[in-house]
Amino acid sequence: MQNYAEAVKDFAERHATCLTVVFVAGVGVLAFRRWMAGGVCRSKARLEGKTVLITGANTGIGKETALDMAQRGARVILACRDMTKARIAADEIRQKSGNGNVVVKKLDLASLQSVRDLAKDVEKNEERLDILINNAGIMMCPKWKTEDGFEMQFGVNHLGHFLLTNCLLDLLKKSAPSRIVIVSSLAHERGQIHFDDINIDKDYTPQKSYRQSKLANVLFGKELATRLNGSGVTVYSLHPGVIRTELGRHLFNSFPMWKIMLAKVFMRLVKNPREGAQTTIYCAVDESLANSSGLYYSDCAPKKPAPQALDDAAAKKLWDLSASMVGLS
Ligand SMILES: NC(=O)c1ccc[n+]([C@@H]2O[C@H](COP(=O)([O-])OP(=O)(O)OC[C@H]3O[C@@H](n4cnc5c(N)ncnc54)[C@H](OP(=O)(O)O)[C@@H]3O)[C@@H](O)[C@H]2O)c1
Ligand SMILES: *[C@@H]1O[C@H](CO)[C@@H](O)[C@H](O)[C@H]1NC(C)=O
Ligand SMILES: *[C@@H]1O[C@H](CO)[C@@H](O)[C@H](O)[C@H]1NC(C)=O
Repeated sequence: MQNYAEAVKDFAERHATCLTVVFVAGVGVLAFRRWMAGGVCRSKARLEGKTVLITGANTGIGKETALDMAQRGARVILACRDMTKARIAADEIRQKSGNGNVVVKKLDLASLQSVRDLAKDVEKNEERLDILINNAGIMMCPKWKTEDGFEMQFGVNHLGHFLLTNCLLDLLKKSAPSRIVIVSSLAHERGQIHFDDINIDKDYTPQKSYRQSKLANVLFGKELATRLNGSGVTVYSLHPGVIRTELGRHLFNSFPMWKIMLAKVFMRLVKNPREGAQTTIYCAVDESLANSSGLYYSDCAPKKPAPQALDDAAAKKLWDLSASMVGLS
């Protein structure tokens, strides 16, 4: 025992600098993790008798948001493109929350027909809709097109949700006070709307397209809030943080091995899906936001978005363009 303690002491003395570095780095990593984890939604709001619809709720932060809504007692509709994955997620959510009122509905945002079919189903079969959460997203995929010929990221992240939201507005108004939550991203800050080439047919890059679609999310939220002023339907857009989800699937595919390894280490340090869902949950239920609309949030607090996301004229122009693309009058 004596020898062991002496050996440890000896080791510590000889490697003092090294141990200090390891200790400081450890504390640094823990502090970074804590900072990364971000804000928490502290609202205890209950949602019995209310209905929440979440797009892309079979995985990632959408699934965590759906679980939270179910735990608060809501009827939760998971609107997903893959019904097998959606049913597995719904089973898990029912089991974890003890709330049996969790249902799945088919929605492929890359098809305007599918969006219209889902909206019709909801309008016909649901008595109310209190919270709509536009969460689904695709990031940095190759140059793909939706069923209707739109560039994939703009088509899914913005246009599909634009049409869905507009088709559900009557039900949302009928259920007022109600909320629309739009999951955008920090990526909007480096985005611009390419009005003269909205499908980015010239010089497509996955980044350019993702940033455009996420800027479109914030501009849509702003214009929608203006149009809904006084209706009792309020609108929120947000950045959820950097989160360990499946969102990087297309991006990481293109990486060389060493970059994949680095990305894997980095992903251990970022938010987990539960932490990543907090700002969405906050916008969906927090009582303090009842009279706010059209603003942007990050880490469960309001945040000023990039200047191009505050451009009224661009928001109106994007609305008109989107309406004509999806065939809304
Ligand atoms: N993770 C982050 O660090 C981060 C950062 C900023 C913003 N965000 C935003 O957070 C939101 C959620 O992303 P996540 O991180 O949770 O990603 P995720 O794990 O990849 O989940 C995305 C969800 O969207 C669904 N989806 C994709 N294309 C769809 C389509 N055409 N129709 C219907 N659903 C579709 C996916 O369904 P499948 O499973 O069938 O593919 C999945 O359920 C996205 O809007 C994203 O832009 C995430
Ligand atoms: C709604 O209208 C009121 C009064 O006209 C105004 O003060 C407020 O900023 C408007 N809100 C939005 C989100 O446009
Ligand atoms: C919202 O407005 C209503 C009506 O003016 C008021 O009664 C309520 O206290 C406000 N809530 C918040 C959180 O500001």
